[in-house]
Amino acid sequence: MTLRIDYTNMMGDVVKGGVAAADWSAAPEALRRAHAGLLRRRDAGDLGFLSLPDDDALHRQSTDFAAKARGKFDDVVVLGIGGSALGPIALRTALLPPAWNTLGKEERKGQPRMHVLDNVDPRTIAALLDRIDLERTLFVVTSKSGGTAETMSQYLIVRERLTQKTRDARSHLVFVTDPQKGALRDIANSEGIAALDIPPAVGGRFSVLTPVGILPAALVGMDTAQLLAGAGEIAARSAGDDLAKNPAGVFAMLQFLADTKLGRHIQVLMPYSDPLRDLADWFVQLWAESLGKHRTPDDAGVGPTPLGALGATDQHSKVQLFMEGPPDKTIAFISVAEIGSDLTIPKLHSDVKELGYLGGHKLGELLSIEQRATAGALARRGRPNMTIHVDRVDAHHLGALFMLLEIATVYAGELYGVNPLDQPGVELGKQFTYAMLGRPDAEQARQEWNLLPKPDERFSV
Ligand code: PA5
Repeated sequence: MTLRIDYTNMMGDVVKGGVAAADWSAAPEALRRAHAGLLRRRDAGDLGFLSLPDDDALHRQSTDFAAKARGKFDDVVVLGIGGSALGPIALRTALLPPAWNTLGKEERKGQPRMHVLDNVDPRTIAALLDRIDLERTLFVVTSKSGGTAETMSQYLIVRERLTQKTRDARSHLVFVTDPQKGALRDIANSEGIAALDIPPAVGGRFSVLTPVGILPAALVGMDTAQLLAGAGEIAARSAGDDLAKNPAGVFAMLQFLADTKLGRHIQVLMPYSDPLRDLADWFVQLWAESLGKHRTPDDAGVGPTPLGALGATDQHSKVQLFMEGPPDKTIAFISVAEIGSDLTIPKLHSDVKELGYLGGHKLGELLSIEQRATAGALARRGRPNMTIHVDRVDAHHLGALFMLLEIATVYAGELYGVNPLDQPGVELGKQFTYAMLGRPDAEQARQEWNLLPKPDERFSV
């Protein structure tokens, strides 16, 4: 089985402070209702991400483009932010060998380096643009709306450089955006720039398996078919309303009960695997932006606070807090059975107590034992936790993890009674930014901004 969730340590029968038996016995009915809600949303055409594993035509958009691009570029640079960047970053960290961008062309088997610019800090952008050979670079400009200020600013800077320094700027650009709407689509249409589709029914943070993630993946030679196959497997396993058989339902239900019944508002995703460290960041955005909402009927702000961590590294950082700090957290570990190439710890200094016992063990074994030890220690202290087991980190298993957490997010939205697909809370800050930058349609925001209290000398130090 590609993926298995062991949630023993979440249950009140086993761990003091875990989910109470009465709450768990009511959970199957609650999942049935959440599932009915998910089906309603799916039938209304809102959950396009569910059918991505079967969308061969969309998959081919990326693989066809990548086939034509093969050999032409040494660097692929993704411009995007939020859901348009975190998926590509998670893919890169998980599926490319470590330090990929520092490897020589031969070691990369001719595949390009991959960069993701997901911010507008000029230091990072200038440093990259000064370093790469623009004649050998492809820029993937990714924006579902086609108008996000950060991504459009990056694009404008890149476009000017390409115009100055290459023979044909357009051949160094591909857009990933809505098939019909938005400024990027209009520019693509009027200038004949290649553009791939983000289906309208797939929201930004649910878009990693559209060309948002699949195009960069294909451009650097990842197995995109297996990404989709792994996702399809979990979509099938989570397609029924029986809680006992539905891994996405179990994940969502446990986290929802932990938050709302046990006061465990902070929900940690902690892979014990360097390749999966950026999956945690991707999850944080998915869970936070989807579930942190104002719920209208009871005028309440709801939603758990997700947090990423990395094992074993964070055993020497956050785990002290998880063990003895406020009992307001759940920890979901990801444990990987087959690490790949492993290292045996040599039997040196066998007479030294602190070193001798390590000799002969493997590093992968140490990582796995440390994960089990931490899970057990947390359980012992009444800190609920669960472990998502995967066989290995490859395209199939990564696709499965993406789909598991995306479906869980929709279930959680149903359980909380919020719309997991929108993000109205980010709008006001965007409007104030437009107002300060002088965007013509931001007059109302400018007036509102001007009414805000100004910095007060009394409260400044
Ligand atoms: O999940 C979302 O919808 C957001 O996080 C977006 O991905 C993010 O704001 C970027 O938007 P866009 O792809 O339209 O540039």
